[in-house]
Amino acid sequence: MADAKNPPCPVSSSFCLTTPALALDLEMVLDLTPENERIISTDCELSMTNLLNAFPLASFIVGQDGYLVGANEQALDLFGKEIIGHTSMEVVRNPNVHDAIERALVQKTRTQCDWSTTQATTDAVYHVTASWIEAEDILVTFKDVTDIEQSLRARREFVTNVSHELKTPLTAMLGILETLQLMGPSDPEAQQSFLGMMQKETQRMNRLVSDLLSLNSVQANERIRPSTPLDLRALLEETVTSLQGLSHKSHSQLLFTPPKTAPIVVGDGDQLRQVVINLIENAIKYAGPGNILIGLSGIDYQPLLRCEGVKIAVEDHGCGIAAIHIPRLTERFYRVDDHRGRDVGGTGLGLSIVKHIVSRHRGRMRIKSSLGRGSQFAIYLPAN
Ligand SMILES: Nc1ncnc2c1ncn2[C@@H]1O[C@H](COP(=O)(O)OP(=O)(O)OP(=O)(O)O)[C@@H](O)[C@H]1O
Ligand SMILES: [Mg+2]
Repeated sequence: MADAKNPPCPVSSSFCLTTPALALDLEMVLDLTPENERIISTDCELSMTNLLNAFPLASFIVGQDGYLVGANEQALDLFGKEIIGHTSMEVVRNPNVHDAIERALVQKTRTQCDWSTTQATTDAVYHVTASWIEAEDILVTFKDVTDIEQSLRARREFVTNVSHELKTPLTAMLGILETLQLMGPSDPEAQQSFLGMMQKETQRMNRLVSDLLSLNSVQANERIRPSTPLDLRALLEETVTSLQGLSHKSHSQLLFTPPKTAPIVVGDGDQLRQVVINLIENAIKYAGPGNILIGLSGIDYQPLLRCEGVKIAVEDHGCGIAAIHIPRLTERFYRVDDHRGRDVGGTGLGLSIVKHIVSRHRGRMRIKSSLGRGSQFAIYLPAN
């Protein structure tokens, strides 16, 4: 192992052999005095550094003694500026990477492994390739696959969540069916009650599938900006009227304050209706009885958007939401109170759909809430 007094040569002589043409040319022109050896070594070092810097991935070269003999800028950024002359084990403290380098060296082959690490406070994943190169050196490259890993993880979580959400009503229905079979036709009243439960579970599955399809189509069109001018006052009036029946059943009152002049914005009518329906339904379902205020501003400068736009707000004075949940409300399947959410038929997808619709309209959403006092969900949309 090299020490501070005796650092290893920054370029292994073996690396020079990897460029035999260059070495031969130089030998022919120069006799190998110590000074000329230094020139060859410097040339090799330069060509190796140039070569490594041309690599699009963080890369370093490990000599057969295990010490680093070269590294490109990305590797220096990743591992620190002082890594040359240290062993690969000191630089990447990971047994899998160490093992991959060892195997590449012993078997004169190419090996691969994944390396998970934490940089500052974020997790990162690298796909590491250790390739034996002719001169007994190992070229080690690090491909950052954090984004790919994250999206794979998100996909796995999504499948788990969907399966879980579907499994719950399916298990309930299987239980009900078994009970009905055991019961026989003797108790028609109980039968009716069980059939009612089955209907509720089927409706829950139906809602889930509709929400999933809706989320899918909203995400698919998220980059395509809507182009139709819309009268938002008329849209809100219609939507509020259509939800009056539901609010009466829950002993809440929908109060809409329209602006004097109808604001016209460019938007997708069906999608914006879906946004308002979800916000009002949430207020009806979760806030409990009381007044629900629906507000719509005229077109005005909106600091949040840094342009002219409108604000739609749905405000209740119900149970409110603890601050810890607010940043997570727009995550798919996130419910503050899982059991209560399920009881009222929520899938936890509504606000996620709202977020994507608002984003498609280049708008913003703000949620303010305080426990025991109520919540305000505000949507800001640019006027054009
Ligand atoms: N006004 C509100 N007051 C209290 N809690 C709310 C309110 N709005 C939303 N929530 C909470 O946020 C969660 C997420 O709402 P979201 O609309 O995304 O899903 P959901 O209503 O459960 O299902 P879906 O909208 O798909 O039927 C709800 O389950 C509820 O716990
Ligand atoms: Mg909802």
